Amino acid sequence: MESKIKDIGLWPKGKERTEWAAHQMPVLLGIRRRFQKDRPLKGILVGACLHVSAKTANLALTLRDGGAEVFLAGSNPISTQDDIAAYLAQEGVHIFAWRGETEMEYFANIEQVLAGTPQLLIDDGADLTIRYHAKGATSVRGGTEETTTGVTRLRNMAQEGKLRFPVIAVNSALTKHLFDNRYGTGQSALDGVLRATNLLLAGSRVVVCGYGWVGRGIAWRAKGMGARVIVTEIDPIKSLEALMDGFEVMPIADAASLGDLFITATGNTQVIGKHALERLKDGAILANAGHFNVEIDLEALALLSASRRMVSEHIEEFVFADGRHAYLLGSGRLVNLACGEGHPAGVMDLSFTNQALCAEYLALGATTLESKVHPVPKDIDLMVARLKLESLGVHIDSLTEEQKTYLDHWE
Ligand code: ADE
Repeated sequence: MESKIKDIGLWPKGKERTEWAAHQMPVLLGIRRRFQKDRPLKGILVGACLHVSAKTANLALTLRDGGAEVFLAGSNPISTQDDIAAYLAQEGVHIFAWRGETEMEYFANIEQVLAGTPQLLIDDGADLTIRYHAKGATSVRGGTEETTTGVTRLRNMAQEGKLRFPVIAVNSALTKHLFDNRYGTGQSALDGVLRATNLLLAGSRVVVCGYGWVGRGIAWRAKGMGARVIVTEIDPIKSLEALMDGFEVMPIADAASLGDLFITATGNTQVIGKHALERLKDGAILANAGHFNVEIDLEALALLSASRRMVSEHIEEFVFADGRHAYLLGSGRLVNLACGEGHPAGVMDLSFTNQALCAEYLALGATTLESKVHPVPKDIDLMVARLKLESLGVHIDSLTEEQKTYLDHWE
């Protein structure tokens, strides 16, 4: 099957960038070397819907070297890096992705992946898995899901009895969400904002919506760069944590008129709704770090505006009727990937090693698993942590026999 990408001529740059990322992905590289020998995915058709970045290229090549035939679509219309897509096409991955897809093209590309009759799905956001189910196809025996939003959608499906194969929630691994969501998005969301705006964070009022692992990563990193951080949150326990972590906590309606920069990270819709948008101060910058572009009410933003225009590649200016300006980054899509390169490779090393090992786990035994959402097996999670520590040259203690005995008794 032919790939559909922007420009195959971009592949040498994509190769260089993939190899650069690989230097920071030693754990995945180790798995890739083992896969080259053991070929655990031999003959398996893998369909994937992932952000096409240098890190994803290293995962795709790991799967290919494990014996899989890989079909890949982007998991967001504007997150694909075209040089990486070109390199993957050059390397024999069937890839259907380019930066700036329309919504229709985005779904058509997912359909192309499904046309490859995949047996395993690797998803980020669950669009691929949901489309597969809508088609009534029968080729898949198991899947994995990368992100919080995707896991929530698939759990809802499973609860209604609609999920037709087992899915491993890679996001459930501690070596995924404690690191990728917190340190990965924490750094890369700010990286995306800074690349787009060159904003001085020190002294700025940054409003972080949501205090899950992503929100707290962003809040802590912004604080570390001297921003005055406000957190908005609906969960009382997380709100209390944010407060005791030293952040101001208040409703979005109150934060709306205070923030210089807003970053949403809730996984929910209309987090910055019409009421909050109406109260923004002149010059407020709006960015989203959640999977879908639904957290900022883009319709309300358009309706409130007398005019709008792009002022740079990633910044859209909205002028309200009373003359106030608001600036939207990356069309309200994942700011780290729309305005930057996504997470650092060093953290995707953990996430994508989990993905590769879960693909192997499913390839070896998916038929024995129930059709529901499963956690990542504990031994995989622990192995990923051990390998990462090893790669960083960090040694840790282990329990002595005496200590084990002590812990096993109640007396
Ligand atoms: N690069 C590749 N996949 C990514 C993801 N899910 N988040 C951020 N950066 C990425």
